[in-house]
Amino acid sequence: MSDISQIKKRIETLRRTIEEHNYRYYVLDSPVISDAEYDGLFRELQKMEEEHPDLITPHSPTQRVGAGPLEAFNKVRHTVPMLSLESLMGESEIDDFFRRVFDGLKGKTRKDIEFVSELKFDGLAVELVYEKGRLVQASTRGDGVTGEDVTQNIKTIPSIPLLLRGKEEKIPDRLEARGEVIMRIDEFERLNQDREKKGEPLFANPRNAAAGSLRQLDPGITAARKLEIFIYGIGDMTGAKRTSHRETLMFLKELGLRVNEFIRLCRKPEDVSDFYKEIETRRDQLPYEIDGIVVKVNDFSQQNILGERSRTPRYAAAYKFPPRQEETVLEDIIDQVGRTGVITPVAVLRPVRVSGVMIKRATLHNISEIEKKDVRINDFVIVQRAGDVIPEVVSPIKDKRPKNTRKYKIPDKCPVCRGKVEVLDGESLPRCINASCPAQLKERIKHFCSKEAMNIEGLGDRISDMLAEKGLIKKLTDIYRLTREKLMALPGFKEKSSGNLIRAIENSKSSSLDRFIYALGIRFVGRKAAKVLSKAFPGPEKLMDSPFEKLEGMEGIGPVTAKSIVDFFSDKSNRSLIEEFRSLGVHLKADRRKATQDSFFSGKKVVVTGELESYSRLAIKEALEEMGAGVTGSVSSKTDFVIVGKNPGSKLSDAKKLGIRIMDEKDLLRHLKKEDKKSRKKKEGQEELF
Ligand code: IVH
Repeated sequence: MSDISQIKKRIETLRRTIEEHNYRYYVLDSPVISDAEYDGLFRELQKMEEEHPDLITPHSPTQRVGAGPLEAFNKVRHTVPMLSLESLMGESEIDDFFRRVFDGLKGKTRKDIEFVSELKFDGLAVELVYEKGRLVQASTRGDGVTGEDVTQNIKTIPSIPLLLRGKEEKIPDRLEARGEVIMRIDEFERLNQDREKKGEPLFANPRNAAAGSLRQLDPGITAARKLEIFIYGIGDMTGAKRTSHRETLMFLKELGLRVNEFIRLCRKPEDVSDFYKEIETRRDQLPYEIDGIVVKVNDFSQQNILGERSRTPRYAAAYKFPPRQEETVLEDIIDQVGRTGVITPVAVLRPVRVSGVMIKRATLHNISEIEKKDVRINDFVIVQRAGDVIPEVVSPIKDKRPKNTRKYKIPDKCPVCRGKVEVLDGESLPRCINASCPAQLKERIKHFCSKEAMNIEGLGDRISDMLAEKGLIKKLTDIYRLTREKLMALPGFKEKSSGNLIRAIENSKSSSLDRFIYALGIRFVGRKAAKVLSKAFPGPEKLMDSPFEKLEGMEGIGPVTAKSIVDFFSDKSNRSLIEEFRSLGVHLKADRRKATQDSFFSGKKVVVTGELESYSRLAIKEALEEMGAGVTGSVSSKTDFVIVGKNPGSKLSDAKKLGIRIMDEKDLLRHLKKEDKKSRKKKEGQEELF
């Protein structure tokens, strides 16, 4: 391709094609080519521009990123001030707003007054100036009159077109498009995780992250932050005319600008309330943060009649959702001992209502988190709740920091048993190492009995605490040693309540294996890991003897969890706990269900003699029973198989005498493997039903 006009043509085609795919991907959210194909086009354009630098224009897609860092932002004066919105709180303010609108438009009947409802994005407002369809300047809102020139940074946002779409005659001579730059929640979380790894301060919320990312002197940083935009209106527009807000939004969309999908024309105030309610229920499903809805009078001539106050229009307002973040005072930091002895710092807050729920405490996670956030006792802090998540302290309000703040210190003694506290390498959490610390025991009991674990109704927080304090439960197995008489001696227990609790405890004996494994409270073994383990092991005995290497390879079980499991079962008292559970009649449902399955061993009478290499005596007994075998201690004419390990005793000769089938370990393993596969397939099939 030597002919310069052909080169120019190809470059133009590439630019148009790339921008088209950008538009499809980032604005319409429906890409039509693969990333690889896109990259191919992009590289071709880059190469051609390198060879012909004189053909580079500022609106080439290659020029989105590439400008060097600035010294400072230039100031930009907005031709039309960027107003803010009045916030309406509660029914009466909402009623007032509509009354003022209707009063202000006296000559009109209500039927002639329409509203547009849309989302109130929680980001930062910007203005994009397009001249003859080309993006020439972008600025922040600033104080509404003067903002900062962030053109280079704005160009790195792929959902912002550098050139408007559509026929030349349709494109306005000059367009000031206004919208909100936002960061998606997943991108915000990814960014914060990244910053945490690097030891950089975290952003408190997606809005701060978006603002911090856009106001960077180095556009390279902005480019790496994956910002997005929603356009919600215009400032000045020349060379095109629209008469209403809704029509304008549609026009902006046609020009290739990203307009949000949740926009509704409302003919009466009730329609706006309905929109508010609908959006509120969907709020948690949106991938970005919104803090309410915005209502705007649709007709521009009506907007003009209503006019503006100094900073806010009379034709529009925001209905905010109840905030999920609030300000309060962190009155103290206390240490809470968990079931594994981990001591967690917990913030004691001056009670504050956050989205309808009173918050008094919030987790602070660990000392490094406290240091990173630099929160101190007596600080003013921002607390937040997101969905059902436990409340947390977002950050201190440093501008308001009082003189009497104190820093948190890791305790050197357990706050409950006054025992030794250890901070293990690589962990920022101190642990009380006293295994019989009452705080740990209480937490372990609570966890064991909880809904997701053994689900023993009636053994909630208060009763667990009392049973531990009275010494009736000194270890988990003591739960199964409780009797009606013992309970009735306790305050508050009557015949009926004692009977109910004993029944609940009795019922839990046939709980499922995964619940039991979870209930044991092994560090890092949550519900999911417990499920995986329960599928791989027919009973706790086999899990108990499983080596690190086997565990580590399992789905969702990493080295930390695997080590924790091995450590747990290398403790003698934990091992004997499992045997005690068995002898107290805890026979998990998974075992029993499988026992009825038809397998090679079902209904067979089996005797084991000698030492097996791959199984402990208990484990092989359990495995065989799971497959329906009856394992007995002596050989008789009724015996079907004798399984023989190393150094067998007289049972082998008995078997030979009676002509009973003898199976060595290799044979046995082959059968077990086959059965295991079979039952796993079946179990998976069953689980899909849920
Ligand atoms: S319209 C004249 N529409 O809210 C109306 N603003 O307090 C001016 N915002 O600074 C703004 N979503 O950053 C409008 N759909 C929306 C919005 C929106 C978020 C922000 C904007 C503005 C602030 C107003």
